[in-house]
Amino acid sequence: MIPVVMPTYSRIDVVFERGEGCFLYDTTGRRFLDFTSGIAVNALGHAHPYLVEKLTEQAHKLWHTSNLFRVAGQEKLAGRLKELTFADTMFFTNSGVEAWECGVKLVRKYHYETGHPEKTRFIVAGGNFHGRTMTAIAASGQDKMVKGFGPLLDSFDRVAYDDVEAVKAAVTPQTAAILVEPILGEGGIRPASLGYLKALRAIADEHGLLLFFDEIQCGVGRTGKLFAYEWAGVTPDVMCIAKGIGGGFPLGACLATEKAAQGMVAGTHGSTFGGNPLAMAVGNAVLDVVLQPGFLDNVIAKGALLEGKLDDLVKRHPSVLDSVRGKGLILGLKCVVPAGDLVTALRDNGMLVVSAADNVIRILPPLIVGEAEINEAVAILDRTCAALAA
Ligand SMILES: Cc1ncc(COP(=O)(O)O)c(C=O)c1O
Repeated sequence: MIPVVMPTYSRIDVVFERGEGCFLYDTTGRRFLDFTSGIAVNALGHAHPYLVEKLTEQAHKLWHTSNLFRVAGQEKLAGRLKELTFADTMFFTNSGVEAWECGVKLVRKYHYETGHPEKTRFIVAGGNFHGRTMTAIAASGQDKMVKGFGPLLDSFDRVAYDDVEAVKAAVTPQTAAILVEPILGEGGIRPASLGYLKALRAIADEHGLLLFFDEIQCGVGRTGKLFAYEWAGVTPDVMCIAKGIGGGFPLGACLATEKAAQGMVAGTHGSTFGGNPLAMAVGNAVLDVVLQPGFLDNVIAKGALLEGKLDDLVKRHPSVLDSVRGKGLILGLKCVVPAGDLVTALRDNGMLVVSAADNVIRILPPLIVGEAEINEAVAILDRTCAALAA
């Protein structure tokens, strides 16, 4: 008999009951060190007192009014993100893929409005992942995601990741945008070189294309800057964010410049729930914390500490681990053994991580992680790798 919850995931047989900071507790009372953070979602860990306070405060006042009306929390969060980024305007969503899809529509509309309706195609790179709608699976193109779901939107031209020449060669009169993750997430935690991101800006400018970054996984402080593109010193025209900005509450946003968003007038896009007062209370609260003096510096420091220790582990366990990559607190350990085996063994030893493509395990602790938790993680990894090597 089909399970009552549609079996689209191969779920792990653990049920969590509560969380606190970097730790989760299951229904049997077992404690786990959470270095998955709901796949880069719980940026401030579990049950962060300030987020709980702000969500509860809002819950007592107002949950939902509809986007028929102005929503004060949206204007506040958008105003703050405008000050902090390249963007002049943004649309709030309930998930990452909706934010991404808003960006796809916005790109098409921009070219339509500016007299180039033929520009409809997107250059995408590497093992890109943007979610599970029909458009997003078409953009990823991976067999396991698309098989049986066709016909798909034929609008995506895939090239190798971090390869400037490949992008140049892929530009055609139909190209509308270059769309990349500054750090590949599901694709195996691969940071693009900063020169690559700069070159993409130049190619986009030369050909009248929009530059579209997906920072759903790598944004909101994870790399130690508020957004990963800041490291490269270039700005996109469009960017989608989600995950961390909600700290565990469903929230995403599509950010754009005024020029890029010129076609997104009344009636062109919408969402019943997107940007509702509860989500906005949490999004604003996450920003309050992430923008506190020293917060992002601490992400950089903790990231460097963790990366150094992971490097040592790679040297100590060469038959299990191959290399470390990533930036800040979005790190990947490329494995020699099957990554899935290491994920399972770590979980058995009380630590949660998630795998990615290219035989990588992702290390995504909450951004509030402390030295004690890093030391505990490294000790569990050390023990687990030694057992796997034996
Ligand atoms: C880079 C990237 N884009 C988009 C998405 C899709 O986000 P959501 O699952 O919230 O729709 C994800 C989710 O993992 C992601 O990592």
